[in-house]
Amino acid sequence: MENKQRLISGVKPTGRPHIGNYFGAMKQFVDLQSEYNSSIFIADYHALTTVQSAGEMKRGILDIALDYLAIGLNPEKVVLFKQSDVPQVAELAWIFNCITTVPYLMRAHAFKDAQAENKEINVGLFDYPVLMAADILIQDIDLVPVGKDQQQHIEYARDIADKFNRVFGETFKLPKANILREVETVKGIDGRKMSKSYGNTIGLFAEDDEIEKQVMCITTDSKGVEESKNPEECNIFALHKLFNSENELGEIRKRYVEGGLGYKESKEILIENIKKFIAPLREKRAKLAENKEVVLEILKKGGKIARQRAEEKMIEVRKKIGVDLDL
Ligand code: ADP
Ligand code: TRP
Repeated sequence: MENKQRLISGVKPTGRPHIGNYFGAMKQFVDLQSEYNSSIFIADYHALTTVQSAGEMKRGILDIALDYLAIGLNPEKVVLFKQSDVPQVAELAWIFNCITTVPYLMRAHAFKDAQAENKEINVGLFDYPVLMAADILIQDIDLVPVGKDQQQHIEYARDIADKFNRVFGETFKLPKANILREVETVKGIDGRKMSKSYGNTIGLFAEDDEIEKQVMCITTDSKGVEESKNPEECNIFALHKLFNSENELGEIRKRYVEGGLGYKESKEILIENIKKFIAPLREKRAKLAENKEVVLEILKKGGKIARQRAEEKMIEVRKKIGVDLDL
């Protein structure tokens, strides 16, 4: 345990996770949980930039906790917690705010996108990368498994660590992002990046009829059944890649190129595969949901461990910046 590298990642409790979240990020949490000293959390304070209803927040937190357990995160191996149980993170974010400039934060993609869309931007959204840096740096993290859209945030965390180290002396490790190239940006049913905010998702715990509806809506060109098709340009095929072995994929690819596989049949194959994949996850989640107290207990226990580690780090940080007056 002791000499393992340290890993952290989190998901916001904003709406239901989709297969893009799973293949890009959450599957990595499960696959790496034994190899790394892992902490996985629910980013509730990040969600507060958009979720501003207590009922929705509560439901969202419990939902992600169930999702984490249903995909196979083992609370014996992983510290599972919610961000708000580690208030030291907000304290550290303030300290980082004081060494971070406004123009630097104005370069963040998420901020620029919100600005381009003329959205009302709260200070929390603007400061999002700083809170995220605090999540990571407070736990002395080596590796952060995420999808590609989070790459810039990890770079911010590295920059902020480096700046603090230069100003106050060596204190923080520089974390690395772990992004799986083949699934760094899973496409949605409209061919854009799959994202909750685009409404183009296939839910990770979707019911069979939802899966059918979502897959049937995948956009394609208008080639006929017998025409030769380029699988690499097809939104259905992009999703086949997630659910098929190399062999099965070879078969489908061949039928695309030779002609004879229509988009409708291709979608039907995809629907069957997704159903087979999701059914056991959904069942496991339903079982876990019968016993919510157990889930709350897991989060409470994890929160205590994460908070203790964070407090140890903050003792060092408070000394470094000179607010701890102990001689
Ligand atoms: P969304 O963009 O749907 O709101 P989140 O911001 O909650 O998703 O992302 C949670 C995790 O899932 C992050 O690590 C993010 O990089 C990853 N992720 C989100 N969408 C995708 C996608 N389409 N492909 C790969 N990874 C993704
Ligand atoms: N920003 C991440 C997302 O939108 C969530 C997140 C918050 C996170 N803090 C983090 C991810 C720390 C990894 C590490 O998905």
